[in-house]
Amino acid sequence: PAGRLVDRLGRPLRDLRISVTDRCNFRCGYCMPREVFDTRYRFLPHDALLSFEEITRVARLFLAHGVRKIRLTGGEPLLRKQLPVLVEQLSALRTVDGSKPELTLTTNGTLLPRLARPLRDAGLDRITVSLDALDDAVFRRMNDVDQPVAEVLRGIDAALEAGLAPVKLNMVVRRGLNDHEVLPLARHVRDTWGAAVRLRFIEYMDVGSSNGWRLDEVLPSAQVRARLDQAFGLERVPPASPDETAERWRYRDGRGEIGLISSVTHAFCGDCSRARLSTEGKLFLCLFASRGHDLRTLLRSGASDAQIAGAIGMVWNARDERYSELRGRQAPAPERRIEMHYIGG
Ligand code: GTP
Ligand code: 5AD
Ligand code: SF4
Ligand code: SF4
Repeated sequence: PAGRLVDRLGRPLRDLRISVTDRCNFRCGYCMPREVFDTRYRFLPHDALLSFEEITRVARLFLAHGVRKIRLTGGEPLLRKQLPVLVEQLSALRTVDGSKPELTLTTNGTLLPRLARPLRDAGLDRITVSLDALDDAVFRRMNDVDQPVAEVLRGIDAALEAGLAPVKLNMVVRRGLNDHEVLPLARHVRDTWGAAVRLRFIEYMDVGSSNGWRLDEVLPSAQVRARLDQAFGLERVPPASPDETAERWRYRDGRGEIGLISSVTHAFCGDCSRARLSTEGKLFLCLFASRGHDLRTLLRSGASDAQIAGAIGMVWNARDERYSELRGRQAPAPERRIEMHYIGG
């Protein structure tokens, strides 16, 4: 029956993340290191990409299985042409209980000054912007394409002006590279935007196999929390839903809240209800999976809605992935894992 889908560990399917492009105008070292993603790198050809109609059809079938939230990712999703048209199509869909699905996206923010308003008008509810430093020199080093931080800050303002509040910010913390930016960025967000912007600190993860991840570059969230607590004073906020990635804390003085995403030191696979659809229509059951389930072939071979929905249901029923939880124990790293730019976080 609709909406009752659970996997082998009893986890429901609630959250669908759709990657709409594998391209990006940044080259963050932890995601698309320049040495790998250079001019010779072959991105997906246009006809490999799911069309808006195909995406919307798959999304509709996922919603019938109980999905309530849809997040568009990339690469950089705002690089996909006509993105507001897709958002409009998705916002016309309904969840099993008849409400509009929650629509959000994760972006590096550079194209928001132009796109925030059209996306909002098309039905986007919220937005998450990646921001790894406040200092311009550090930010340029992190994005590795000499992108000034001022443009991203303008993008955040544009999102707020368009009514996409609260805006969430994602900062991936790498010890020795940008961890000295934790306090300056937190202070800037508190002073400039207060509760309208929520900064989340993400432990640098071993996603993909091209970023050369090392454990000693991870700054455990407990240390981020200690620094912020000492500087500003924090108190715990109870989770809004069981499958949240971020542990929430608020400033004691009322200037907003922050989040800690601790997938390395405190895995959250137990309630993971996230399915991921790649740009070329493969369904992935975990951020650390090495193989996806091809839905595009089904879509393009004349399968009925019932057949595709059945295939999705079978794949989810068989799911037992929980990589972050096993990482500490044995977990032999799969040979070739999917890359973040391809699946979008
Ligand atoms: P909202 O709170 O609804 O905005 O969604 P969210 O908290 O899931 O936010 P978002 O999608 O921005 O995720 C934040 C970051 O958490 C991602 O960029 C990833 O780095 C990490 N993350 C998200 N989902 C997972 C997951 O399922 N597993 C792991 N290991 N990390 C995840
Ligand atoms: N570890 C943690 N977070 C990552 N992201 C990308 N690569 C990594 C990684 N190796 C985050 C980015 C962005 C989102 C798409 O995923 O910061 O916010
Ligand atoms: Fe682009 Fe985001 Fe990856 Fe950076 S983290 S390279 S902005 S997709
Ligand atoms: Fe979900 Fe996999 Fe992340 Fe665990 S590691 S929370 S199963 S995506």
